[in-house]
This record gives sequence, structure tokens and C-alpha cells, in this order.
Amino acid sequence: MPALDDVLQQKLQLLAAKHQLRAPRATGRDEGVAVWREGKRLISFSCNDYLGLSRHPQVIAAARAALEKYGAGAGASRLVTGDHSFYTELESLLAENKHTQAACVFGSGYLANLGTIPALVGSGDLIVADKFIHACMLDAARLSGATLMRFAHNSLPHCRLLLEANRREHHHCLILSETVFSMDGDRAPLPELAALAQEFDSWLMVDGAHDVFSPATHHSPPVTIQMGTLSKAAGSYGGYVCGSQTLIDYLKTAARSLIYSTGLPPASVAASIAAINIMQAQPELCAMPLAHARYFTSLLGMPQAQSAIVPLIVRDSDKALAASKILEENGFLVAAIRPPTVPENTARLRFAFSALHEKSQIEAVAKIIKEQGWLCAPSP
Ligand SMILES: Cc1ncc(COP(=O)(O)O)c(C=O)c1O
Repeated sequence: MPALDDVLQQKLQLLAAKHQLRAPRATGRDEGVAVWREGKRLISFSCNDYLGLSRHPQVIAAARAALEKYGAGAGASRLVTGDHSFYTELESLLAENKHTQAACVFGSGYLANLGTIPALVGSGDLIVADKFIHACMLDAARLSGATLMRFAHNSLPHCRLLLEANRREHHHCLILSETVFSMDGDRAPLPELAALAQEFDSWLMVDGAHDVFSPATHHSPPVTIQMGTLSKAAGSYGGYVCGSQTLIDYLKTAARSLIYSTGLPPASVAASIAAINIMQAQPELCAMPLAHARYFTSLLGMPQAQSAIVPLIVRDSDKALAASKILEENGFLVAAIRPPTVPENTARLRFAFSALHEKSQIEAVAKIIKEQGWLCAPSP
């Protein structure tokens, strides 16, 4: 039998040949949207801390107080002794903001999807999912054992077709989509998906990880299961599911990623509470990432941004890496996103806009894109 390292070396070489090798690079976050990499200060367009709340003084103070009072860790699963009192407060805040009866907080967004989907459907059931759902929804769908079918991105006719052809042969059916797609920044047609779910006696679950929800202006979408994360706009850590009281009661007793994993550190949950209170009090702050993204798309004559995320598709992985390197040399951090995270031939620069970006930073990065002619890349 070949040694493990030999097998892995071969795999690494194959990935390198396809420009698909990945390795974390140490990044120190500084004030505002600045980061440090290898001694160089860069303006980042690759952070999901859309509102800059991870460094907000009230968020830090809440986390510090919880840390000092309750220690660094929860000590056990929520179902044993890890269910500290911050959870109750956070879950009622989330339910209130999402206009649902109840909420359940998980260890991360990944764990929320991984625990929820297999708890709801299994063998003999059907999952009909958008082609672009996040890896953790996909992993969860596969783990569930349900029959998985995928419709072309945001295609209602294709979704309907799959339901018409397959719904009747399956017991339960779950439709999966996202409010804001993480690598494309576009939005799902939620009212129409909800209508399809109703017509085909199915449940609709959406991943809202990249929704910079502004509680004051938030309209509850007609969705049975709303999943989200506390690690992006809320600037903290953790994931959640909001829905009916019965759904949440069930998840708390059946979602394996909740039951068999240690509860979140009290400081993280306290930070999320402080962050959501700030979002509630400052709808104008929540509106800024989208306004900044739209400023960027208007400068470049691109279709108007639908969210804080704007992809610039350059097709080839090596081109995306080269473009990211040029931006870095000019003082900007913009991650190159490559297959398999996105489909073949759609490698891209992914811009994530924050409330904390300055207009001059957006103008400067747009100028480089124009000068380099990256907008001219033919679409796939
Ligand atoms: C769409 C989407 N869902 C879920 C997650 C996972 O969330 P978390 O980072 O909290 O695990 C991510 C994170 O990248 C995401 O982009």
C-alpha cells in the first residue's frame, strides 16, 4: 500500500497544476477595514464583518464582561451544562428580529445547517436545492440521505420541473436556497419559492448567512426555516435557525451538531447580543454595505449590486490569482475565488463591502480594475 504522504503529495500536485491549491495566510485585522499581511497594511474587501461590529466598543465590552464572569468556555454541550443564560436572551432577540416564534443557536452557521437538514429529512424524502447553495447546506443535504436534486441557479421553472417530476414519489420535501448567494451576491426569489413550496406541499429553508439584516426594515420572508450566522454581519461567532416553536423544540432534541458539540463560549454569545442590539438601533449602519457596493458597481458600469457582495468574474483561476496579486501590490486585499468553490470557468475576485469602507478606497480599487481592463473579460 502506498504511504499516505505519497498519495497526498500526488493530490497536492494535481491541485497545484489546476491553480487550486489553498493555504491559509496569517492576516491580522487592524482598525476599520485594514488588515496586516506579511508586514504590509492592506485595505480589505474580503471580510464578512460587514458592519465592523467585531471591533465595536460595546461588542467588545459585552464579550469582555462575559469572559471575566463566566470564563473562556461553555464547558459542555448545551444539553448538559453548556446552556449559559446568554443563550436565552440571544434566541429571543433573533426570533424577534426574524419575526418567528423561536430560535435555536448553534456552534456555527456550518453546524446549524449540518444539524438541521438531516434532522428534518432523510431516506425516502426529497431535497430540491439551488445549484449555488453553500457547501455546508450541500454537505448537510448529502448527509441527510434524502434524494437530492438541484435546480439551475435561481431558476423557478427548473425548480418547478423537478418538483412536478419527483415530489409525488417522496414522503417529505425540503427546498433549499439562500437569501443572498455568498459568491455571487444576488438574491433568491423568495416569495416565488415560497409559493412553489406551498403548491408542492414542501418546506422552504433559506440560508441568510450573508444577509446584512436591518431589523427595523426587515420584512419577514415567507420561509418555513430561516438559517443564519452570527459570524458575519454580527461580527461574532455562532449560527442559528429561526422558525416555529415546534421546529425549534424539535431541533433542540434532534439536531446532532447541537447535541454532540460543546456550547459556544459565553463571550461569543454576549458579543452577538450586543451586536444585534446595535443593528436594531442603527438601521442606517445596516444600509451602508449595500450603498457602498452600489457605489462600486456604478463606478464600473456594472449591474447594480443586490447585496454587499460583488463578484468580478475573470474565468480562469490563474487570472483570478494574478489579479488578486496585483491588487495586493497596490495595497488592497481581494480574495481570488476559484473552483471548486465556484463552477469551472467562473473564477473571480469577490468584493465584500463594509459599512466602514471609505468612498476614496472604493474609488481607488475601481480605478485599478478599469486600468487593468478586468471588466472586459468575456462572460462564461
Ligand atoms: C452561505 C453561507 N452559509 C453558511 C456559512 C457558514 O457559516 P459559519 O461561518 O458561521 O460557519 C457560510 C460561511 O462561509 C456561508 O457563506
